[in-house]
Amino acid sequence: MKFGLGQKVIITGASTGIGKAIAKELAKAGAQVGLLARRKELLLELVNDVQTLGGKAFYKTADISNRQETLLGISELINCMNGVDILIANAGVGAPTTIQPFNVETQEKIIKVNLLGVIYCIEAVLQTMLDSGKGQIVAISSLAGFKGLPGESGYTASKAGLNTFMEGMRIQLRPKNIFVSTICPGFIKTPMTEVNDEKDMPWLMEAETAAKIIIKAIQRKTKVLRFPWQTSLLMRITGLLPDWIIERVMKKYNDNPPMPKNPL
Ligand SMILES: NC(=O)c1ccc[n+]([C@@H]2O[C@H](COP(=O)([O-])OP(=O)(O)OC[C@H]3O[C@@H](n4cnc5c(N)ncnc54)[C@H](OP(=O)(O)O)[C@@H]3O)[C@@H](O)[C@H]2O)c1
Repeated sequence: MKFGLGQKVIITGASTGIGKAIAKELAKAGAQVGLLARRKELLLELVNDVQTLGGKAFYKTADISNRQETLLGISELINCMNGVDILIANAGVGAPTTIQPFNVETQEKIIKVNLLGVIYCIEAVLQTMLDSGKGQIVAISSLAGFKGLPGESGYTASKAGLNTFMEGMRIQLRPKNIFVSTICPGFIKTPMTEVNDEKDMPWLMEAETAAKIIIKAIQRKTKVLRFPWQTSLLMRITGLLPDWIIERVMKKYNDNPPMPKNPL
């Protein structure tokens, strides 16, 4: 399945960062994009950008942690585009896990958006894809899903859960001609990471570069993509390290974690 004129792609979390960069990249190939996020003004700007770049765009606002809003928003996008070929479930949030106080509400929100939100998005496209006998479902997970990290327990758990959920879906949907990809990036320069110190984010990549890599993987129907390879290797090595080394390396983030600029 090549991207190009008429290809119908729904992207969640399209208002900033990786989702926005993917939408613009797809626009250059002349795709139709259905954009979903909460911030209408940013989506409107992106609709203009996509049209300037040669694509066609529709947008709907929804909070993907709300099942009914998500089902409604995505079904309206499917109606606007008269179908859907690819879902890119990209919307996600990150925030530290603190212990004093133990911030349970924040952890609930992370799991609701990063895991349940993706499940609601899949629900919203699944019947259409099953009826048309084809489709592709892509989730933007993270290399953080391969190792529990201090101060990041909620985020890493949400992405680990997402990885195994997508793995199961991949095997289950393959006989239905629906391809499933899980994309696990390392550090990407977006509003999500701008609160971090750049020197603590090795091999930090621009969102536009990440978008090109992700699109190539979608075209190839890659099952699981971990990139960049250097950060992927670092995470594999981290998995072998004793806890005390990780505790020391991450002490700064554990004791005084940078908080996201906008509330979740
Ligand atoms: N940046 C990185 O280093 C990195 C690394 C690995 C994986 N990732 C993953 O990549 C994905 C995109 O992140 P990003 O870095 O591009 O961050 P970002 O710039 O903060 O973008 C997050 C997007 O998700 C949307 N979103 C957040 N909560 C939402 C909700 N409840 N309902 C609907 N939309 C919601 C935001 O839009 P609104 O606020 O307008 O709703 C925004 O468009 C996330 O899943 C993230 O976990 C990022």
